[in-house]
Formats: sequence, C-alpha cells, structure tokens
Amino acid sequence: MFREPLLASAPLRVVERTTDVATRAPSQPSRTFDAFGRHIHYLRISLTDRCNLRCVYCMPEQVVFRPNEELLTDEELFTILRVMSRLGFDKFRLTGGEPTVRPGLVEIVRAIAELPTTREIAMTTNGLKLARLAAPLKAAGLSRVNISIDSLDPHKFKRITRWGNLHDVLEGIAAAERVGLTPIKLNAVVIRGFNEDDVVPLAALTLEHDWQVRFIEVMPFADVAAFQQAAIVTTQEMMARIEAALGPLEIENGGKLDGEARLYRLPGARGVIGFISPVTAPFCASCNRVRLTADGTLRLCLLKDGEVDLKTPLRRGAREDDLEAIIREAIWLKPWGHDLAEGVIPMNRIMSEIGG
Ligand code: 5AD
Ligand code: SF4
Repeated sequence: MFREPLLASAPLRVVERTTDVATRAPSQPSRTFDAFGRHIHYLRISLTDRCNLRCVYCMPEQVVFRPNEELLTDEELFTILRVMSRLGFDKFRLTGGEPTVRPGLVEIVRAIAELPTTREIAMTTNGLKLARLAAPLKAAGLSRVNISIDSLDPHKFKRITRWGNLHDVLEGIAAAERVGLTPIKLNAVVIRGFNEDDVVPLAALTLEHDWQVRFIEVMPFADVAAFQQAAIVTTQEMMARIEAALGPLEIENGGKLDGEARLYRLPGARGVIGFISPVTAPFCASCNRVRLTADGTLRLCLLKDGEVDLKTPLRRGAREDDLEAIIREAIWLKPWGHDLAEGVIPMNRIMSEIGG
C-alpha cells in the first residue's frame, strides 16, 4: 500500500496507542493520534494541482497538470471528508495549486461547514479571484484566508509569479477584509535575487493594518529543488533586514508558535509579523496535520514522500468504515518529521500538488 516504508527513517518510540474508538458513543467523534502521541486533527485539502500563476519557486512555466479523471470528484471528496470528521478532524484548509480555480469551490466550503466536527475552514490563495469570491465564500462558511503576496512592487510581483497582476491581489485582500474573512494573513516566500529587499515594505504593512504578514523560507521539492536551495533566504537574514529598517522586533505570544509561525511586532504596529522557518527551525514536534492531495492520496508529511492512496479503494467500492481504518492506520505511521538538514528532499511531487 505504501510507496516507501514509512517508519524506516523515524526514531522508534513506543507510545501507548490512544484511541477511544471502541468506547465512544455515536455522537462523540473520535480523536486520532500518531505513534508519537501527536493529536492529528487538521486536514489540508489540495483541491487542484492547477494554478492561474506560475511562481518561479513553485512550478516550471510549462508545467503539465494531471488529467481531470485522476482528481477526486466532489462526491469522492465528500466521502473522505465525512470519514475525516468521524476521526475527529475539526480544522480544514483548502489549498491547491490555486483552490479558487476548482469548479464548485463554494459548494465544497458549504459541505465542510456542515460536517459535525468543523470548527474552522481556512483557505490559502493567491487572491487573484477573491474580489468576486470573498462574499459567497464567507456566506458558505469560510472562516478566513491566507493570501500569498511576495512583493508590493508590481514589476517584481510579475517577475516572481510570471503572470500575476499585483492590483488584483490587493483588491482580493480588500474584499476579504470587507466581508470579514479575518484575521487576514499574508504569506511571502522570500527568494534570493527576486524579493529579499521586499521584506521591509511588506513588514511595514503591519504598522497600519491589523494583519499578520508572514515570511516563509523556501523549501526544496523535486525538479525545482536546485533553484530553491540556491535561493533560500534564512529567517535570521529576513529579521536583520527588517530590524535595520524598521526597528526592533518584539516577540509576541511569549514565543509560542501560531500554527507554524513565530510572531513578532514592530514598535507601535497594529499587526504582527510571522516567520515560518521549515528549513532553519523545523516545527515537526507540534505537527497536528495531514494532507489530502487533489488526486486522492493522504500525504502524511509535507516534506516526506510517504503517501497512502485513498482514491483506489474508494473507486473499488470501499465503505466509510474501510476508509476510516485505512486512514487511522496511515496516521499512526505519520513520520516524525523531515530530514532536510540531512539533505533528504521530497522527490515525488512539487509544491503545487501538495498545497503547502
Ligand atoms: N517553499 C515555501 N513556500 C512555498 N509556497 C509555494 N512553494 C513554496 C516553497 N517551495 C507557498 C506559496 C503559498 C503557500 C501555499 O506556500 O507562496 O503562500
Ligand atoms: Fe500558484 Fe501558489 Fe504555486 Fe504561485 S505558489 S504558482 S500562486 S500554487
């Protein structure tokens, strides 16, 4: 079933398996744990591998997408989501590629909102289509959005995204804020030779706006890995650039991670600045998530190739009970974390197929 022996590289640690599946009443959802005792309850759902941009650090310009019949249909997706809800999943994030290019997005959000366990539905988007979609998505039950914006300079923005128009993204951010898809979080991937200077104007947005502006270290994936490894700018360098221009960064939240971001605030700022440092400071210990790819595999770690195929059993007629058993078993085998520091790079997919 697995494409690689999942536990091969994980340190062996015996933990009492914690599951209340046998004893729970039907109305009580289960809780799902991995072998390291991490409670896994957050599902990131890649709705499509397609995108209306071609960011240089994400995909080649001539990328070939999967044929539609390889992607989960809405009905297949809803079946998996019902099972995830039975397993106690309560937080969902829609990703891509670009989730807003998936037909039926609003209906998908509504279906997730109707699951009995759902507490939060977020979406990571490039924002291009948000000006039109923000209101219907909010009405369907979307809680908030993370919008990717790597530069505030229209020319640099176009150079990074190859096709993007900065103005559309700014309109998307305004629409998201207007309809209450808040708190607004903006994501910038920082790439040497493209936007390392832009951390300063992006960070300065938090002086006036109650937003969280997050800077992400670029991660290496498959065909794009050589470019990504050459282009990495570390969190430490980003912080030094921001502090030199805008003053000291005060740690927020007592240094506790917000999701995967460590938060800081500039003097007198309304918003906060987050740093996501998968390469220089991995946050695997607090991982609570798994990912569903658009072609129907459960990916257990963003940065490890181990996946479990759900689409094949589904198309062969597996029932929800069967899927529940497959998923529970897979999550138990979730690897401890990634081995980027040892030079092990995920090779079977690029980022746009996993959704970050
Ligand atoms: N490393 C880090 N972040 C990436 N993203 C896309 N590719 C990479 C990468 N190789 C970001 C996008 C978006 C989020 C889904 O992940 O910019 O903000
Ligand atoms: Fe599209 Fe996001 Fe990849 Fe850019 S980073 S090409 S917006 S999926």
